[in-house]
Amino acid sequence: MPLTFGHAVASFVLIKRSMQKPVYESYQNTPVEHNNQSPIENVSTSLFLRVTMEGNYENVVEIGTYTGKVIATLKRLVPSINAYGVDVGPTFDRPFVFSGVNFQKYDSRLSILDQLTGSTLVIARGTLSCFNESELNHFAEQVSIRPVDLAIYDLYPNFSIDTTINRSDHEAFKTFFYDYSGIFSLKGMRVICDATDVNDWVGRPYSSESWRFLYFGQSV
Ligand SMILES: C[S@@+](CC[C@H](N)C(=O)[O-])C[C@H]1O[C@@H](n2cnc3c(N)ncnc32)[C@H](O)[C@@H]1O
Repeated sequence: MPLTFGHAVASFVLIKRSMQKPVYESYQNTPVEHNNQSPIENVSTSLFLRVTMEGNYENVVEIGTYTGKVIATLKRLVPSINAYGVDVGPTFDRPFVFSGVNFQKYDSRLSILDQLTGSTLVIARGTLSCFNESELNHFAEQVSIRPVDLAIYDLYPNFSIDTTINRSDHEAFKTFFYDYSGIFSLKGMRVICDATDVNDWVGRPYSSESWRFLYFGQSV
């Protein structure tokens, strides 16, 4: 088939695109739009809901809440909880209430937990893999010294690890695979559920990673 002008234009566009570096906006600088509806098929919301109801928690605090859709959905489905969402972006510079959820700025001391009385569940989806190793260790320390439980849903490689592995590196935006059960157990937290056995329905069996659900309580 003879090369046409169209082929030449398409090749030019493809080469130009392949040379363009994707832009990864930093969470620290990017405002987000609020959203109070997590889709029905969102697995992490269902797991957090189950844990919230089983544990009959009075407070639920979402770390790295982003648009707030997970915590707002939990608040709508379990109106009795005091719901909180914290994150690093400029949207959270000032505290505000949206859909019955109290939103405020994340601080690494997790001082929000000191304002709460009653049983408390901390949840995080896709947040801890964005922490660097020292941020994660500090987070684990701050959680473990409080009387709170923790449920996380995050990415894990499709093989067992006992050390940290770089997952992605886009300058200001890096993510990691962590041995969460090892890290939180070392801080004295007890694994209540480690859902590696649900990998084949929450995961991506044909890629090298899966979503993994872990639920920790304080050691008794
Ligand atoms: C992949 S997003 C997940 C957002 C949301 N939890 C969800 O499931 O849609 C990661 C979240 O972690 C937050 N985050 C990233 N790095 C952080 C850090 N070092 N400290 C606190 N939060 C961080 C981001 O602002 C973002 O909301």
